[in-house]
Amino acid sequence: MRIGYVSRSIFLSLLLVMCYNGNNKMNAIRNPLNQDIPMVTNLLRLHSMDANEKYHMAHVYAYPSSHMDHMDAQLMVFFFIEDLKVGKRIPVYFPKRDPSTSPHFLPREESDSIPFSVESLPNLLQIFSFSQASPQAKAMEDTLRECEMKPIKGESKLCATPLELMLDFVNEIFGFNSQFQVLSTTHFTESTTLLQNYTILKKPEEISAPKMVACHTMPYPYAIFYCHYQESESKVFKVLLGGVNGDRVEAVAVCHLDTSEWSPDHVSFQVLGMEPRSKPVCHFFPADNLVWISS
Ligand SMILES: *[C@@H]1O[C@H](CO)[C@@H](O)[C@H](O)[C@H]1NC(C)=O
Repeated sequence: MRIGYVSRSIFLSLLLVMCYNGNNKMNAIRNPLNQDIPMVTNLLRLHSMDANEKYHMAHVYAYPSSHMDHMDAQLMVFFFIEDLKVGKRIPVYFPKRDPSTSPHFLPREESDSIPFSVESLPNLLQIFSFSQASPQAKAMEDTLRECEMKPIKGESKLCATPLELMLDFVNEIFGFNSQFQVLSTTHFTESTTLLQNYTILKKPEEISAPKMVACHTMPYPYAIFYCHYQESESKVFKVLLGGVNGDRVEAVAVCHLDTSEWSPDHVSFQVLGMEPRSKPVCHFFPADNLVWISS
């Protein structure tokens, strides 16, 4: 399935519709300082608040992987550029998150009224009614820390709370009159298998991407995208994958051609068993991530 070029205004309206739909479901946290939190509690059961989800760490490139003590299935997303050949078999972990239960974007007025910093964590835990020792508190703290970490050389980043900020960031990077395209991984089959071997079924299609902004979902009580842009060269591909169990996935992948500025401890080097920073590293995106591409 091909996602065509979308004009900015159409896409913006679509996103705003999504945003307002989300808004209706978020009434319970409209006044986050009230004790009105059933919906919030509901949000907390979400997979995306799973403090063990190291997957997110793996996608925040260039930072050391202090949290990785053993090889985690969720880190099985990396591969080498030379693997992009028909018939190649790669083990891949694809999280299967149910969008209907995922956290929603907050509209700007709401998110503006809630602090977003490590410093305000104690206050935030009160707002969302988490104990300090809870896994949710740990997940929120990790997310806030990632968001506050300084970008590496040649990188711009933003943790986008309301949707408008994500679009502003993309506009700023691409230039205000540029066309763009947004890509995401598509699952053609339904299954609960998370990690399995996939075979590349068709010659991977390289998507021309003069500039690319990748936006990753982060564990938090409401929708947060960690968006970043790296000046260093990268290539974007659509890869048709066939799972051992018959799953079919059109996966979006990016190959970072220059890894020399990454932390030598980056998880990908360990997962791939390679000399740190010595060669390109590629990875697949899960279905709920967005890859913005200028055209
Ligand atoms: C993928 O295939 C290899 C080689 O057959 C096997 O060793 C490995 O356990 C498989 N991985 C998964 C996740 O099934």
